[in-house]
Amino acid sequence: MSTQSESARPLVEAINVTKAFHGNEVLKGIDLHVNPGEVVCLLGPSGSGKTTFLRCINQLETINGGRIFVDGELMGYRDQGGQLYRLKDKEIAAQRREIGMVFQRFNLFPHRTALQNVMEAPVHVKRQKAATVRADALALLDRVGLADRANHYPSQLSGGQQQRVAIARALAMQPKLMLFDEPTSALDPELVGEVLLTMRELAEGGMTMIVVTHEIAFARDVADRVVFMDGGVVVEQGPSREIIARPQHERTKSFLRRILTEQDETPEAHPDAPDAGIPAHLRKHS
Ligand SMILES: Nc1ncnc2c1ncn2[C@@H]1O[C@H](COP(=O)(O)OP(=O)(O)O)[C@@H](O)[C@H]1O
Ligand SMILES: [Mg+2]
Repeated sequence: MSTQSESARPLVEAINVTKAFHGNEVLKGIDLHVNPGEVVCLLGPSGSGKTTFLRCINQLETINGGRIFVDGELMGYRDQGGQLYRLKDKEIAAQRREIGMVFQRFNLFPHRTALQNVMEAPVHVKRQKAATVRADALALLDRVGLADRANHYPSQLSGGQQQRVAIARALAMQPKLMLFDEPTSALDPELVGEVLLTMRELAEGGMTMIVVTHEIAFARDVADRVVFMDGGVVVEQGPSREIIARPQHERTKSFLRRILTEQDETPEAHPDAPDAGIPAHLRKHS
């Protein structure tokens, strides 16, 4: 969580980002700043452009307009006197390595153990020594609560455990920034809490995170800021507790109403109640 002053250079700076697919503009000028150590939750209905925006940040999509800087570096391009030149694939890959991404589906290598999955990128991409990588990977598995599952294959792990391995795997590259795209939405409800807890610990450890989620309780309690997107624009943003308790725009209000009634644990929750809808193990004030 953020302790940085307002004057700190943003770790992520997106300026007027546009993106179209076959003439269909899905990002219509997104501006977003994320400070070092800040946790930002991106909320918004399906189709609003959240995934596309995350994919633009780490260059899995090419933007059509605007600029994205991560840690002061222009992503994907070299700016020469205002003229943009696309970076080489190798240079883009190097930029992407600074950013960890966790998807809805865990995408672990099925024929590798949890430990081997976490070791894969540091050994093969960073070419670090296996012995060092192994020790670091075991420490990461311990950090996500899976020290005793190091030699298990993905098929021998629950969805929640697989997602925690996926988080450890992303952390193994020592990213500056972690992007999460609905990391719990493919999980059985009883497995969601353990993944959110791991993410919460990561946030408390100072990681800069952008999290797309429908877990309003997580957004409220863990995020510093909530950004609500709809139709390819940022409709409203602000401190998470404020936005969730007192959204200003009708689109934000109706989205939150719908999500809060859908979420199993919060049928009766009023958004103003302290810790409304927050699973017991995630509560600060229980
Ligand atoms: N690769 C693609 N090709 C064409 N259209 C796409 C592609 N990816 C996303 N879209 C469209 O862009 C819009 C935003 O999608 P997305 O970023 O996935 O939204 P969200 O993650 O908020 O649900 C949707 O209308 C979707 O159909
Ligand atoms: Mg999406």
